[in-house]
Amino acid sequence: MTTAPLLEIRDLRKRFNAEAGFFAPLGNFVTAVNGVSFTLNRGETYALVGESGCGKTTTARLIMGMERADGGAIIFHDGETARDIRAMDRRSLRAFRERAKYIFQDPARSLNPRLRVRDILLSGYRWSAKWPGREAALAEARGILEETGLQPGDLDRRPQDFSGGQRQRIAIARALLMQPELLLCDEVVSALDVSIQGQILNLLLDLRKNRALSMIFITHDLKIACFFCDRVGVMYRGELMEEAPARDLHERFLHPYTKLLFDSVKPGEQSRASAPPPRAGAPPPDPASSCAFLARCPNAAERCAREKPPLLPQGEGRRVACFGAGN
Ligand SMILES: Nc1ncnc2c1ncn2[C@@H]1O[C@H](COP(=O)(O)OP(=O)(O)O)[C@@H](O)[C@H]1O
Ligand SMILES: [Mg+2]
Repeated sequence: MTTAPLLEIRDLRKRFNAEAGFFAPLGNFVTAVNGVSFTLNRGETYALVGESGCGKTTTARLIMGMERADGGAIIFHDGETARDIRAMDRRSLRAFRERAKYIFQDPARSLNPRLRVRDILLSGYRWSAKWPGREAALAEARGILEETGLQPGDLDRRPQDFSGGQRQRIAIARALLMQPELLLCDEVVSALDVSIQGQILNLLLDLRKNRALSMIFITHDLKIACFFCDRVGVMYRGELMEEAPARDLHERFLHPYTKLLFDSVKPGEQSRASAPPPRAGAPPPDPASSCAFLARCPNAAERCAREKPPLLPQGEGRRVACFGAGN
């Protein structure tokens, strides 16, 4: 595999006003993404893993330009040029969105139930500079339905005629139609039965091989991430805790959160790990200058409440944000 970067995320930050609305008090913020940095190489599949609410979807939406970042950079490498998605004008962003496609969790909600599959597939394509004309586009759509395990005749059916797994295939077919080079898959198998999950993952494996796709694969399931991806980034409360090649991570976890996540998640199930009770009498630590994982860490030391552990290289290809790592 080459190691040419396709996407470089640098110190990405996003916070939301927790109480939306006109009378929302100022300064009540939820930090969704807090200084995330990683690189996706060309042809690679990178997993973003973590429990619900840790900022995975926000990271994907920031990359797609669907949400405005508060800070950081998202560099897209295109041949000789490298451009920050945050600085793109509308036209460039639209062109980028033809090359990077976002597929999200719930196929039932991402597909308009009133449209037929042909219109679902072609509606975005029609406004693109790549639009080849109706007949050619329909021929492409039939081919892509077959490639994703559906029938060409499915063009005339509507989403409710399909099972959950088949709907996810339609969403994948729609994403592939403009021949993107990057897919952002956000919990694409989470809503499906375990047996169907395997079928969709196999489909994605085939597509990845045949189409030389790069992927950011978002999941709360560390086991699926290790099985499906080349490298894994483990997120907790908007920060990366550990990053490693999937094979190495599966053998050895250096961050206590990675271990907790691995132990607590059964395939296809959300983590049930809960925080230990706070220590009596201890003042709450400042989240800006303490470890994000402090309250749940079984190995927390005094230093972890005073200082935020930076994400530092720890052996080949691995980065860990923990003062206790490597001891
Ligand atoms: N539009 C929004 N407005 C307010 N808070 C948001 C918004 N989107 C996400 N959040 C908050 O940001 C945090 C991260 O959310 P999200 O990125 O959806 O996490 P994940 O995809 O890992 O479950 C959560 O606390 C969530 O409630
Ligand atoms: Mg999400």
